[in-house]
Amino acid sequence: MNNEPNDFLPSEILRLLSKKGKSAFFPKMGILAQAAKAKGKRYNATIGTAKDDDGSVMSLKSIAELIDVDPEVVFPYAPGFGRPELRELWQKMLVEKNPNLAGVKISKPVVTGALTHGLSLLGLLFFNEGEELICPDLYWGNYRLVFEHWHGVEIKTYQTFKDSGFNVAGLREELLTSGDKKVVILNFPNNPTGYTPLNEEVLEIVAAFEEALAAGKQIVVFIDDAYFGLVYEEGVIQESLFVRLGNLNKNLLAVKVDGPTKEDYVWGFRVGFLTYAYKGMSDEAAEALEEKTAGALRGNASNISNLSQSLLYKAYSSPNYEAEKQEKFETLKERYKEVKKTLTDHPEYTEMFTALPFNSGYFMCVKLRDDVDPAKVYQLLLDEYDTGVILCDDLLRIAFSSAPLKDIPHLYENIYKATQDVLQDK
Ligand SMILES: Cc1ncc(COP(=O)(O)O)c(C=O)c1O
Repeated sequence: MNNEPNDFLPSEILRLLSKKGKSAFFPKMGILAQAAKAKGKRYNATIGTAKDDDGSVMSLKSIAELIDVDPEVVFPYAPGFGRPELRELWQKMLVEKNPNLAGVKISKPVVTGALTHGLSLLGLLFFNEGEELICPDLYWGNYRLVFEHWHGVEIKTYQTFKDSGFNVAGLREELLTSGDKKVVILNFPNNPTGYTPLNEEVLEIVAAFEEALAAGKQIVVFIDDAYFGLVYEEGVIQESLFVRLGNLNKNLLAVKVDGPTKEDYVWGFRVGFLTYAYKGMSDEAAEALEEKTAGALRGNASNISNLSQSLLYKAYSSPNYEAEKQEKFETLKERYKEVKKTLTDHPEYTEMFTALPFNSGYFMCVKLRDDVDPAKVYQLLLDEYDTGVILCDDLLRIAFSSAPLKDIPHLYENIYKATQDVLQDK
């Protein structure tokens, strides 16, 4: 492929890209590319890394002896697209985790500096200043910094829940508003609500997209799968929405934003992936989208921690990986069940707060009764009850992921009592 990845993208996809997205490319004769050409040459004075006189990578012993991985592998730069073996493996793992992806053409995941960075790259590639992102009104607060602040995007919200389920009608309505290009973000299991749609709700979500496509809309959907796999109830979708949306229509580009941050409990490793799919995507178009992503990435992070990528690749190849992961899943599921039990055991709590629907992920939210100020309860919890939760507008978000099982009943008791205190003080 030359420096014109646009030549390989159909007009349906090209018009979804921002101005920057349209011009993004990975320099074919850039330093990384020229260094790759010179790999294995007797005399190689290309890239800005340093070698010892014996040709081994230069490293400080005090750093090298800390890590049980080959310095020759992890000390140099990682390729701009990410380590090839990790990209290959993550792609394979995506299909294992989402069996219905088998047979769907997906791009090779490009490695990003975790999900936040992936989202920000999407901001660059798909938004011109002032364009809208359709999003439920309960969303991860950092979307504001990523999209609104850094990319000048307007976050257009619809009410998240309707009749104790996901508000598909709200999504549908936003999709059908005037304007051809629609950019949507969906995040399940959700932060902050801990909600993932039920199987039947997914059918409705897909139908809403189909209706919008039939009405002539051109759509990009960012599928933020940060908490993928942490589903605790029957009847809730187990696979990513990427499976359903990635093979729906040539006018709907689905982008899976995911990574090991939460899935594999490595929050500080800063590795994530961006993977593309749309119906009828050719190999060349997939490569063009990968190239644009890597080009955008080369212009900010340059490339992503080789050490983190190498450690993950090694871990994924470990025979113990699956069992260890299952064990942590069970720990989180037990906590989830304890939250449900606590709420069932204490019907009186509903006098002070109600739980929003939740069935998955790291979190759940409670809505306090209308006549108390959530900010006061939040402060009282900190000051008098030794209890920290997150205040999200008029909700309290409780991360049961980070609370030991035995503390869970006390957490809710404290919220109940603090709300009572605030009410009595009024
Ligand atoms: C919904 C959601 N998306 C993305 C992220 C960002 O993840 P990362 O730490 O990999 O950047 C988070 C982190 O809290 C999140 O909750």
